[in-house]
Amino acid sequence: MRETLASIKAQALEQIAQEGADLDALRIKYLGKKGELTAVLRGMGSLSAEERPAIGQLANEVRAVIEEAMTAKAAEQKEKALEAQLKAEKLDVTMPGMAPAVGHVHPLTLVQRDLEDIFIGMGYAIAEGPEVEYDYYNFQALNIPENHPARDTQDTFYITDKILLRSQTSPVQARVMEVQKPPIRIISPGRVYRSDAMDSTHSPLFHQLEGLVVDKGITMADLRATLSTFAQAMFGEQTKIRFRPHHFPFTEPSAEVDVSCFACGGKGCRLCKGEGWIEILGAGMVHPNVLRNCGIDPEVYSGFAFGLGVERIAMLKYHIDDIRLLYENDVRFLSQF
Ligand code: PHE
Repeated sequence: MRETLASIKAQALEQIAQEGADLDALRIKYLGKKGELTAVLRGMGSLSAEERPAIGQLANEVRAVIEEAMTAKAAEQKEKALEAQLKAEKLDVTMPGMAPAVGHVHPLTLVQRDLEDIFIGMGYAIAEGPEVEYDYYNFQALNIPENHPARDTQDTFYITDKILLRSQTSPVQARVMEVQKPPIRIISPGRVYRSDAMDSTHSPLFHQLEGLVVDKGITMADLRATLSTFAQAMFGEQTKIRFRPHHFPFTEPSAEVDVSCFACGGKGCRLCKGEGWIEILGAGMVHPNVLRNCGIDPEVYSGFAFGLGVERIAMLKYHIDDIRLLYENDVRFLSQF
């Protein structure tokens, strides 16, 4: 029995000492309930009364030695693991950092901000209106009754018979005039919708910026000077504007307004398709019916209004040839502006 104990001790110590020893398995093998040492202790019944305490003590000593070796080995393994981990996770603080990807202002937002800056500089306030709008504000208040042919060119998306996605920012004119007494001087940028198929120049969702001025003695000369000042601020000092007669139900007289081509100065080039002029907005004197619909006396007050397409300005300014690029949100495109 002494030899068995000695050989258990020797074998256990040797296995514990091994590199990467599986201590849990060894503990079960030697010290567990069905382990080798336990087996020896169980066999002690066959020993003589004198031998028993001596062997018992020896067995306890062997157990203590094995346990101690295991504890020491466990500590050593733990330290080694920590060292390896520290080595693997070593951080070189002198390495160059990773630059976080920073977002970019969208070209439509850039243009909208330019437009707002220009008109705020002329004393305009910004007014907002809902994109989900009543038929009344989008059409009727603007002198476009049901069945008026002007509705055909602004077909939009209907929520109910009376509620639609606004097809223009002009309803904000009516909303402002209803609640504000002249003098009124506002711009209103925002999204508008039309039931148009998507192609390189059309989108069912786009952006407009509306302008409205109402006061005593406002004339077409004020409109012209305002738009000329705007065009020069937006496209350069030398920019001229041109009015072409047009029809809008909510302005009278009405005009489509062109700017002299800022690429060729008016000589004719690819951008202006050889015309020398580029159409940028619609405008006119607020129709007396519209003033009346909003509770403003057209005998006392007059006003002008204009509306421009933000996409169109952005595409001209940045030479973008397809409107869809503005909505795809491809960062390779967006980061160029
Ligand atoms: N709302 C018109 C359009 O979308 C533009 C416009 C605005 C014309 C204001 C005149 C006055 O076509």
